[in-house]
Amino acid sequence: MLTGKRILLGITGGIAAFKAAALCSKLVQAGAEVRVIMTESATKFVTPLTLQVLSRHAVFTDTFAEQDPAVVSHIDLADHADLILVAPATANMLAKLAYGMADDMLSTTVLASTAPLLIAPAMNVHMYEHPAVRHNLELLASRGARFIEPGSGQLACGYVGKGRLAEPEEIVLAVQSYFNQQRQLAGKRVLITAGGTVERIDPVRYLTNDSSGKMGFEIAAAARDMGADVTVIAARSMAEPPTGVTVVRAESAADMLEAVLARYDEADLVIKAAAVADYRPVVKHSEKLKKTGRDLMTLELEKTEDILKVLGERKQGQFLVGFAAETESLAQYAMDKLERKRCDLLVANDVSAEGAGFHGDTNIVSVFDKDGLAVSWPLLSKREVAVRLMALVAQRMSSSGGDAS
Ligand code: CTP
Repeated sequence: MLTGKRILLGITGGIAAFKAAALCSKLVQAGAEVRVIMTESATKFVTPLTLQVLSRHAVFTDTFAEQDPAVVSHIDLADHADLILVAPATANMLAKLAYGMADDMLSTTVLASTAPLLIAPAMNVHMYEHPAVRHNLELLASRGARFIEPGSGQLACGYVGKGRLAEPEEIVLAVQSYFNQQRQLAGKRVLITAGGTVERIDPVRYLTNDSSGKMGFEIAAAARDMGADVTVIAARSMAEPPTGVTVVRAESAADMLEAVLARYDEADLVIKAAAVADYRPVVKHSEKLKKTGRDLMTLELEKTEDILKVLGERKQGQFLVGFAAETESLAQYAMDKLERKRCDLLVANDVSAEGAGFHGDTNIVSVFDKDGLAVSWPLLSKREVAVRLMALVAQRMSSSGGDAS
């Protein structure tokens, strides 16, 4: 299943390093071409010779011990990896990777590589829960690194808790699912709207909403990681859009409609995560409004065009995913929107629930299809919601033959 995949296995110095030998062997058995870099501390737990025999390649431990005069090893290894797998990753290596340090062969190679990074941490439970480690994990995740969570149980240090390296079989499965997922949206053009629209009253005042853009941006990153060609139409947002996607700025609902329609015919998948204003001021003043002598002021609003509804009406095979932010009767409103706007899937969240909605990094969503509730997920990071949603979307798109109309 991993035939021809070039995996750079980084082994760092924790007791779990002994499991890396079995991991290396299983990756090779699955058809991968494995190159190994060990930190000096890792060599105290398991010998480079073991990994050399299992990987059938020389093992690298020292940046300056060049084995082939024709290449610079850390650049060569960095350039030729389809995936960098760090297993086990110690707290020290997480810190180095998070802060871009390059003081050993492994951290130097990771820094020199554009390959995706899969990390399997292993350490004492208190270390794993330490705010410094949590922060480093978050930093790495925000740059697109993925993790294979450590398991819970008896740790080598005597403690019972979370920190045990995932089993080699589990890590191999995660590697396989990474490559499977990576291909799932290859060649697909994906359009994602994100953020909250801004409807101008005058040059300095506007109506908007609480959308941070985070959910849409995480979906864009997840679609990118699955090989899609992603364009994000972004309204006002607090978050940074991901790298590796095309970002088109659109301020108002009207701008967003124009930007989306201009790209709709070529799109295979459209995900409307943006919070679009339902109403805008009838008059957009070109000069700053002055206050008057009156105590009351009335702002007249008119309906904006419902972008998702327009997309539903003009659908020609595009797979359409809508969002619904509700505070009551979630299922009923979600199904109503799904049908009215001709969506294939509708992602609904109860924005009044703790941990869900516009603010923060977590969300609680339920996904509906034409038959009703398709799946309900517990409180998850927006990143995890995005990854799960994209896996579901890809599965539905492939089972409908890419034509979901
Ligand atoms: N949406 C849109 N254009 C609008 C309003 C909403 O494309 N003018 C899209 C959103 O991007 C989202 C979905 O419609 O994917 C649901 O948004 P919501 O505002 O909850 O839907 P409404 O139909 O406006 O419902 P409500 O009655 O709750 O306002």
